[in-house]
Amino acid sequence: MRAVVMNAYGSPDVLHEAEVPDAPAPGPGQVRIRIEAAAVNPVDNQVRSGSKGDEITLPLPMTLGWDLSGRIESTGPGVERFAVGDPVIGLSAQPATGLGTWAELVTLHESLLAPAPRSISLRDAAALPLASLSVHQPFQRLRLPAGASVLVTGAVGALGGYALQLAAHRGWRPSALVREQDVDLAEELGAHEVHTTVAGAARAGGYDAVFETAGIPDAIKAVRDGGSLVTVVPTVVPPAERGITPQVSYVDQDGAALEELAALVDRGILTVRVARAHPFARAAEAVAGFEAGGVRGKVLLVPSATPDGAAG
Ligand SMILES: NC(=O)c1ccc[n+]([C@@H]2O[C@H](COP(=O)([O-])OP(=O)(O)OC[C@H]3O[C@@H](n4cnc5c(N)ncnc54)[C@H](OP(=O)(O)O)[C@@H]3O)[C@@H](O)[C@H]2O)c1
Repeated sequence: MRAVVMNAYGSPDVLHEAEVPDAPAPGPGQVRIRIEAAAVNPVDNQVRSGSKGDEITLPLPMTLGWDLSGRIESTGPGVERFAVGDPVIGLSAQPATGLGTWAELVTLHESLLAPAPRSISLRDAAALPLASLSVHQPFQRLRLPAGASVLVTGAVGALGGYALQLAAHRGWRPSALVREQDVDLAEELGAHEVHTTVAGAARAGGYDAVFETAGIPDAIKAVRDGGSLVTVVPTVVPPAERGITPQVSYVDQDGAALEELAALVDRGILTVRVARAHPFARAAEAVAGFEAGGVRGKVLLVPSATPDGAAG
């Protein structure tokens, strides 16, 4: 099969398309998926560049990628939720398992997958899993009453956009902290108040909770005394202050929760935003563009032989 492979750690230039052995035939409870699209996420950049600490010891060559959409190509013994041909989405914790999704085929346990949403293209559905689960899971642990005020930092990013929409869905009152040029987009995504500085957000009176996705060290200043700060950026965790103890959240693979999130897409509650799709052959260029920042919507990678891939 074809896959995006890296033979060394470093800049996006280490990424290239290559022929590799097919993903293994599925074992008990496993399915093999033919990938329609995979997304690029910040964690892929961190692993590739070697900045993610211990992952530098992962054996090379390696294929990156957590998010996937695709169709079931074959099923192993005992698989109950899926049949050959079913459209699915899924999440593979690549640094832990070595199973990257930037490939034509990947073999995973069926519990990591969910039926793809029906209201968007199967390709675009690859933009849902990692970012939405990374918001859904900490939000389930945040016990806030209806009407609670929640500030989302990086609110037009992949996690941030879902955070605004999922906060509103829970009956909270979401606000945003974004760059100057993203104010309109934050409003479109449902932010009640939009700030471009922490000082401005703090002046707004103190939020019941701040959900931190932008790695802004003093975002805690915008939390009210005794409120909550939940961050998904473990490298930027401020010390506790004023009865606020920052919580770091790490995403878990969870096909059942993904099924709930796909249903929210079909109900029009979650908007899946895709900036562009590139064929595997252009992975280095796609990843470099994503890493440069300022991209609004996810960057996808698609097998080079698909219509999208051939067009890219
Ligand atoms: N812990 C976990 O399990 C977990 C899971 C998923 C993601 N994450 C982490 O979560 C973070 C966000 O991921 P993502 O996929 O949402 O990334 P993303 O799509 O790049 O979104 C980040 C957003 O934050 C904005 N931003 C950065 N610095 C800012 C600042 N000083 N002021 C205002 N906005 C700022 C970015 O704008 P620009 O593009 O203009 O810079 C971008 O819109 C990443 O650090 C990622 O590694 C953690």
